[in-house]
Amino acid sequence: MELLLRRLAVVVAVVALTAATAAEGYNITKILGDHPEYSQFNKLLTETRLAGDINRRRTITVLVVANGDMGALSGGHYTLPTLRHILEMHILVDYYGAKKLHQLARGDTASSSMFQESGSAPGTTGYVNITQHRGGRVSFTAEDAADSATPSSFVKSVKEIPYDLAVLQISKPLSSPEAEAPVAPPAPVNLTELLSKKYCKNFAGLLASNADVYSNINATKDNGLTLFCPVDAAVDAFMPKYKNLTAKGKAAILLYHAVPDYYSLQLLKSNSGKVSTLATASVAKKDYSYDVSNDRDSVLLDTKVNSASVTATVKDADPLAVYAISKFLQPKELFKVTEDLAPAPAPECSPGGLPPPPRSPRRWRWQLEVVV
Ligand SMILES: *[C@@H]1O[C@H](CO)[C@@H](O)[C@H](O)[C@H]1NC(C)=O
Ligand SMILES: *[C@@H]1O[C@H](CO)[C@@H](O)[C@H](O)[C@H]1NC(C)=O
Ligand SMILES: *[C@@H]1O[C@H](CO)[C@@H](O)[C@H](O)[C@H]1NC(C)=O
Ligand SMILES: *[C@@H]1O[C@H](CO)[C@@H](O)[C@H](O)[C@H]1NC(C)=O
Ligand SMILES: *[C@@H]1O[C@H](CO)[C@@H](O)[C@H](O)[C@H]1NC(C)=O
Repeated sequence: MELLLRRLAVVVAVVALTAATAAEGYNITKILGDHPEYSQFNKLLTETRLAGDINRRRTITVLVVANGDMGALSGGHYTLPTLRHILEMHILVDYYGAKKLHQLARGDTASSSMFQESGSAPGTTGYVNITQHRGGRVSFTAEDAADSATPSSFVKSVKEIPYDLAVLQISKPLSSPEAEAPVAPPAPVNLTELLSKKYCKNFAGLLASNADVYSNINATKDNGLTLFCPVDAAVDAFMPKYKNLTAKGKAAILLYHAVPDYYSLQLLKSNSGKVSTLATASVAKKDYSYDVSNDRDSVLLDTKVNSASVTATVKDADPLAVYAISKFLQPKELFKVTEDLAPAPAPECSPGGLPPPPRSPRRWRWQLEVVV
């Protein structure tokens, strides 16, 4: 019995490790970066934060258009939140390599898009009809397209990683009144007020007393921000060290608690990886990143100098997440790394940001067979 249990423990450990390392994700920004003819579309994927969403997914097809075909997508026609909806329409949550595209049963199919999955698309809007015409031409039409709208045609396959990612060029952006509808701007949030009300009054005070830092974080919050705010007791405990920092150090350590991307609690609980911070972007040649991992139901942040856990959610509503954490994070760029501090065996973290979930069940089973 005991032997069996021990063996089971080994299996569980190996499976856990596999889950953490199986992610050899791709980087859509890099893939499109090799094709300057799609640079505008690529830039929009980054600005709307969809690049990260694509990289975290498997089984996905991205419909891109060339710079000359961008139409209303270029030139400041739409606000960023509206552009996000439009581009979400161009991301199909299924894999359509060129081969599959030309072998559609019955000649047509409706695919769900990320817009449909986002919950912002009512009814069947958010679906994309894919039609194969006589002569082999394939076209794409948003389900809610006006009758007068002409379909977008398949031009060529840009990149295929079967059956994870397909990037296809289409002749022009999909037309969808629902996706193009103006998105109401997020309700204004007063960060100072938000943090002060729940757990993080002291941290709010530190931010408010540094105008540059405050305006940097404040300017990021409408386009994807995850803020880890140390609880009041943690700020009190850290104050002697904080006061000792130079003005630049103080600014850096405050920005270090802000990650310029939106991570829901659910995503943090199911992924491990390294995150960059606003300090990474504002202090030249310094890393200022840390590892995020999870252990059962808790989320851990590890800077290699100290570690903190998420203790409460202050706000979690795309594009802004604020989590209270147990300690003031100490960057290795400002404090000495303490080797023996390492908590439980740290899961391996991917250097390329939070990786996607494991790719296929087959991989897991294979690992199990090897071990047992
Ligand atoms: C999409 O396909 C469905 C079912 O095949 C059809 O009812 C609908 O009219 C199509 N929509 C467009 C815009 O082509
Ligand atoms: C935000 O709230 C704080 C505290 O309630 C207040 O002092 C500050 O004036 C508010 N800022 C804005 C821009 O409304
Ligand atoms: C914070 O950002 C909002 C827009 O989201 C803006 O209206 C406000 O003036 C900003 N506050 C400060 C203090 O920069
Ligand atoms: C502040 O800095 C001084 C000089 O570097 C050092 O001796 C002291 O221990 C520091 N205090 C704290 C609380 O870190
Ligand atoms: C993806 O590639 C771009 C361009 O090469 C790079 O700037 C970015 O840091 C990469 N993202 C990740 C998560 O590795």
